[in-house]
Amino acid sequence: PVEKRVEDLLKRMTLEEKVAQMNQFVGLEHMRSAEKDLTAEELSNNTARGFYPGLTSKDIGALNEKGLVGSFLHVLTAEEANDLQKMAQKSRLQIPLLIGIDAIHGNAQVSGCTVYPTNIGLASAFDPALVEKISRETAIEMRATGSHWNFNPNIEIARDPRWGRVGETFGEDTYLVTQLGVACVKGYQGADFTGTDKVLACIKHFMGGTPINGTNGAPADLSERTMREIYFPPYIAGVKAGAFTLMTAHNEVNGIPSHSNKWLMDDILRKEWGFKGFIVSDWMDIEHIHDLHKTAETNKDAYHQSIEAGMDMHMHGPDFFYKVVELVKEGKISEERINESVRKILEAKFKLGLFENPFVDLKKIKNTVFTKNHQQTALDAARKSIVLLKNNGILPLKAGQFKNVFVTGPNANDQGIMGDWAQPQPEKNIITILQGLKMVSPETNFTFLEQGWNIRKMEKAKVDQAAEMAKKADLNIVVVGEHALRINWNDKTGGEDTDRSDIALPGLQQELVEKIHASGKPTIVVLINGRQLGVEWIANNAAALVEAWEPGGFGGQAVAEIIYGKVNPTAKLPITIPRHVGQVQQFYNHKPSMYFHPYTIGSSTPLYPFGYGLSYTTYKYSALALSKTTINDKESVTVSVNVSNTGKLAGEEIVQLYIRDEFSSATRPVKELKDFARVSLAAGENKTISFTLPAEKLAFYDKNMKWGVEPGNFKIMVGSSSEDKDLLVTNLLVK
Ligand code: IFM
Repeated sequence: PVEKRVEDLLKRMTLEEKVAQMNQFVGLEHMRSAEKDLTAEELSNNTARGFYPGLTSKDIGALNEKGLVGSFLHVLTAEEANDLQKMAQKSRLQIPLLIGIDAIHGNAQVSGCTVYPTNIGLASAFDPALVEKISRETAIEMRATGSHWNFNPNIEIARDPRWGRVGETFGEDTYLVTQLGVACVKGYQGADFTGTDKVLACIKHFMGGTPINGTNGAPADLSERTMREIYFPPYIAGVKAGAFTLMTAHNEVNGIPSHSNKWLMDDILRKEWGFKGFIVSDWMDIEHIHDLHKTAETNKDAYHQSIEAGMDMHMHGPDFFYKVVELVKEGKISEERINESVRKILEAKFKLGLFENPFVDLKKIKNTVFTKNHQQTALDAARKSIVLLKNNGILPLKAGQFKNVFVTGPNANDQGIMGDWAQPQPEKNIITILQGLKMVSPETNFTFLEQGWNIRKMEKAKVDQAAEMAKKADLNIVVVGEHALRINWNDKTGGEDTDRSDIALPGLQQELVEKIHASGKPTIVVLINGRQLGVEWIANNAAALVEAWEPGGFGGQAVAEIIYGKVNPTAKLPITIPRHVGQVQQFYNHKPSMYFHPYTIGSSTPLYPFGYGLSYTTYKYSALALSKTTINDKESVTVSVNVSNTGKLAGEEIVQLYIRDEFSSATRPVKELKDFARVSLAAGENKTISFTLPAEKLAFYDKNMKWGVEPGNFKIMVGSSSEDKDLLVTNLLVK
């Protein structure tokens, strides 16, 4: 009876102890590393990276020992997690700490844990079961190293590649994002996160939605229709799947900061969707209601507004605690309102088993993280997440076909393949692309030229040297893109806080590719990136183009296996790749009038469409059929299609089902993904694939914002990508 335990504890808590449960601080080691190079004076003015002026790790430690910290984030070692819990145990009520971390693609910020591909790569696998498995493994590794709460899944819909955080998302499609978000929640939490190997999921960021200009945290101006049709469904499904926490977004939406948005937090999330968990702020964003958005005159007013709107926990900083205690004492916030938040936070701590044992058994870590099974999952995931974008027939390379292969590029022999929200890992745990190539093709003579991981500081002399070396090789492999690893915040080119006004290759990378291509030797380009890059020149000129995204710790092996044909690529794009920044926004499920007047100078078509990806075999689709051609709005129809592998290799095809409402009272997208299936086919094999399409999937908000299915004709399209030429079409009538 967790409820009874919660109520019993709540009764014994002082107001201060309660409000403290609602307050979170960044880990002390994290603080110490930020403090170590600062003088006392600098420390007192230190607002760098968002730290509170004057706040030190010592202050937080002292609060913790008094039971005045409810939660920590970014605790990067199990030892530190234990130390913090030990401090909390010195307090009167000995309430354990809830420790949160961004384990977006494995617990990759903690040294020695398994690093899986980032979400955009996982989305390319179109495989919810795989995402659930990775999430389960991540939860196990998190608990083994002291964290209980994952600030993932990021279920935002990514519609602007200038935004640095695209790689953290599952792409642009509402249906796909919804499926994968739910898979994460299930994997992290299990049935209801009760247990010592479960973690809380955190669906986020509510409501970021495509900020203007693609800059993180910029205002979003969205119609209620767009929110409800495009951005809300993953949250609705996440809440239904039991996600116990939700993080609000940096952004204001339609003039109201998300952190004080009562409509979003209370009316929609709690009342309409029935969310039963707790809401956490993003990093010092409640303060930003005052100092950035200016809809509160003081921090205190900001805390007041935020709590009244539904906020339950504040991320980082001491002010919240002092001011909220004052607000309650002044009668501006009721103690019962505080109880509401604290109940849920305590419920989480009880269910996670933290009152029984808040500590990590350091001896068990070795056998729990980076296990053989987890390594295998990371490798399988990387193999399934790499999209082959172009192949002039050169791939797969045959053993011994090219004796001397020149490899270069900032990401060729670097841990940058892990992507954002990862710290450097022990070298023995990571297979870089160069290492992967050597491993997979030992008969080849690989020469390599280091370009340095820091794309912002590439050297021209090195680029020229590469051009010379390329001439002497039989084949060149150039690994370019972005670098998001958290080594030096200011030098990252991908991930959080790396929004860009351009989506071309940063640094001297375009020059590098062009000069290598000028050698006249065949050139294969491998991209490592989280956001889409406008690489039209490369698409037109390289012999092959491989979109590896950020494939994780085993990414180098997977890339090499695809290049050498040990693995037949299966992944498809979960996001449209534009040709260049001028085409942004570019997404497949646009409204019919989007290109009524296409660009007169420049192309209106994407470089590569959503759902696209090549294989080393070929598939033929035929016999698209419906079990009935007319249904009513309560019925379902079975959609079947025959897919045959017409090539010489076994493969896995991602079969996609789209719909289009032909005539409607409000405009509808030209296509909407409604289902997909991964199908394995031996060479020459064919299978009939069936999807159940309930009428509910044809519903939308009509011209009066009423949800339902409108009678009329629907195009049902099935095929290998979102492009018309890749789809078979039939008609379904809804009466
Ligand atoms: O979870 C993140 C969020 O996505 C961005 N700001 C910091 C949080 C905690 O790391």
